[in-house]
Amino acid sequence: MSYFEKIKNLPLAKEPIIMGIETSCDETAVAIIKNGREVLADEIISSATEHARFGGVVPEIASRTHTTAILTATERALKSANMNLSDIDAFAVTEGAGLLGALLVGVSFAKSLAFSTGKPLVPVSHIRGHIAASYIADKNLKPPFITILASGGHTAIVAVDDYYNLKVLGSTIDDAVGEAFDKVARVLGLSYPGGPNVERLAKEGSNTVILPKMLKHYDGGEYDFSYSGLKTAVINYVHTAESKGLTVNRADVANSFQHAAVDVLVEKALKAAKERGYDTIAVSGGVGANGYLRETLKNATLNKGIKLVLPEKRYCTDNGAMIGAEGYLQYLKRNFADLTLNAKAVVPL
Ligand code: KG4
Ligand code: ZN
Repeated sequence: MSYFEKIKNLPLAKEPIIMGIETSCDETAVAIIKNGREVLADEIISSATEHARFGGVVPEIASRTHTTAILTATERALKSANMNLSDIDAFAVTEGAGLLGALLVGVSFAKSLAFSTGKPLVPVSHIRGHIAASYIADKNLKPPFITILASGGHTAIVAVDDYYNLKVLGSTIDDAVGEAFDKVARVLGLSYPGGPNVERLAKEGSNTVILPKMLKHYDGGEYDFSYSGLKTAVINYVHTAESKGLTVNRADVANSFQHAAVDVLVEKALKAAKERGYDTIAVSGGVGANGYLRETLKNATLNKGIKLVLPEKRYCTDNGAMIGAEGYLQYLKRNFADLTLNAKAVVPL
């Protein structure tokens, strides 16, 4: 019997233990999750410092470091959960979206584990993974809820109507918010990854630089975003001041940018919750780790009858646990792949 014929008829485990493998960008992440919510192990080996001197992720370096790190991350995860490979019921892996060469390392590795143990291979969408991190954060969270999806590649308000049915209510019409953070970091002379560095600098400044209010004159979707104009305004502000020989208060620029970038996310999420009748707002993606976003959301939802789900910062940025959490949901649906599974640069939500 071929691998896949065997897998197709394999009974599901009662309390599934899923290994989640994530290699879409610069984090080699492997986690072990029980019942989709309980993190038994969670290992991350980041190559961010290797990319820092280039000012952004170098795909070739990312792929190579995944190749050297993936076995170590897996062994660490098994050791920390006190388990053997035979204890794992399924291997969930990010199939996309992301850097193809980087994804291929995780996909190939997960295939070999699934094949050698005779367990299912579960392909997972990176974005659905980010959203599923909320199930780890709040063990009682059940759809329906709204999530602010804010990462380096995506910015959207997503309605999670049930575990499998996700609807984009609005999204960015150009740059993603994380991308804007990274580009603003660059013009302010901060190193990669830009988001956390902009946040740090913003703490030393105040919201005094006037930046454009985004999408003021846009007639498109009411929950849509645009970050390209804001990013350009910050770049122009800094360059114009420099060309006039003026000193730029970088901390004030960082603070003002952070206000403009984050406030609109909070406003639109609240508007969507109110207008569409959702009583829970969650946060997902790397920008969800931003302290100002988290504080603003806490204040905005306080005493409003809205429940807020804020995953720990390590579950906002890329990690293996979120892939295990979404992998669990796909496992229950028997969404198993055969060994021809390939990496995808883009996957529909
Ligand atoms: O979700 P993620 O780890 O990877 C993608 O799927 O893109 O998100 C990475 C993005 C980067 O743009 C990074 O600068 C941003 O999230 N980010 C932050 C913070 N931490 C990470 N942005 C603002 N504040 C942070 N603390
Ligand atoms: Zn991500």
